[in-house]
Amino acid sequence: MIPEQKASTPLPFADDILKELDDLREQDLFRTTRQLPSGCVSFASNDYLNLSQNPELIAAADKALQKYGTGSGSSRLIAGSSQLIDELETEIARFKKCPASLVFPSGYQTAISVIPALIGPGDQVILDKLNHASLIDGARLSRARIRTYRHADPRSLQKILKKKLSGRRLVITDSLFSMDGDVPPLRELGQLCADYDAAFMVDEAHATGCLGESGRGAAEHCGAENLVHISMGTISKAMGGMGGFIAGSKILIELLINKARGFIYTTAPAPAQLGAALAALKIFSSQKALRRELADKSAFLREKLKARNFDIGSSCSHIIPVILGPNSVALQAREALLAKGYYCPVARYPTVPADKARLRLSLSTAHTQEEITGLVEALISWRDSRD
Ligand SMILES: Cc1ncc(COP(=O)(O)O)c(C=O)c1O
Repeated sequence: MIPEQKASTPLPFADDILKELDDLREQDLFRTTRQLPSGCVSFASNDYLNLSQNPELIAAADKALQKYGTGSGSSRLIAGSSQLIDELETEIARFKKCPASLVFPSGYQTAISVIPALIGPGDQVILDKLNHASLIDGARLSRARIRTYRHADPRSLQKILKKKLSGRRLVITDSLFSMDGDVPPLRELGQLCADYDAAFMVDEAHATGCLGESGRGAAEHCGAENLVHISMGTISKAMGGMGGFIAGSKILIELLINKARGFIYTTAPAPAQLGAALAALKIFSSQKALRRELADKSAFLREKLKARNFDIGSSCSHIIPVILGPNSVALQAREALLAKGYYCPVARYPTVPADKARLRLSLSTAHTQEEITGLVEALISWRDSRD
């Protein structure tokens, strides 16, 4: 039996909030959390290599849990450092071929802490127009002047860099865009940063483990690693766990230890999280076959959707949008697919531009050919039912 709840104390501005929520409902922008029905095939997870279910990661997390307990107790700068986290940072630095690395409790926390540590008022931060919210929020928190260039467009970036800009200049891009599944021309963007004396930060959240010969990400894939000053990654997607990291020079990491507020004023990641991340790194370097399998399955789905005239934008990866336009249409599609046993999340404004609501499909090595084909058939039958 659910125990009786204490009546909550109403907010003084509850009426305003109710109006705000009603406005969201009216625009088909109201969000809720939901549990998926058991047995449904989900195309929503960023666990691209299915490592969250890998026995080696589970055993490593368990071992760390048994040895160190459930929590790390305090901030790294107080007493939260451990052999485990030092080892993880050494291994991340080795994996990324960088002198040093620093781990954060989440990817979002990494972005919003690192950007304000690097730049401040009087400086310039230059963002791709479609960058992830965590990078935008980090830029806003820094209080530097924010400028944006056209998505994945070096000419548009150059126009900005050519201006006489005061202070430090930091250019930031996703390496694999989380809602579009495309990779920007990282070599050209990085070269422009080098030419105009700007620092180049690349968020490899969705590419880590999936792109590049060794799984180091899109910069490896594009041959642009030597142009990147600040390489960000997350442990929460293809690494199958939770956390974020920065890899780069020793002075960069020293600066972050001293200035990144989301590193200083937070409890260090939990031991189980660190143990699993170490095990994931071991798998990454050695498992080209997993990356190949993900790339092959993704190409298969992209081709099938394109052949049936679905708009998948410029996706070239395991993130595949099916762009439908109005919010109401994308929501209808989601519910129709769920009724057939497939869950495809909807991305709406402000995550994507207002008129470009979409199903955002994430592929993983766990998806079977039958599931992928079944999803495409369900999409076609939903579209036919609308005609
Ligand atoms: C590009 C990008 N960066 C950062 C993050 C945040 O990572 P995390 O989920 O670990 O907080 C995400 C999350 O989806 C992302 O898509």
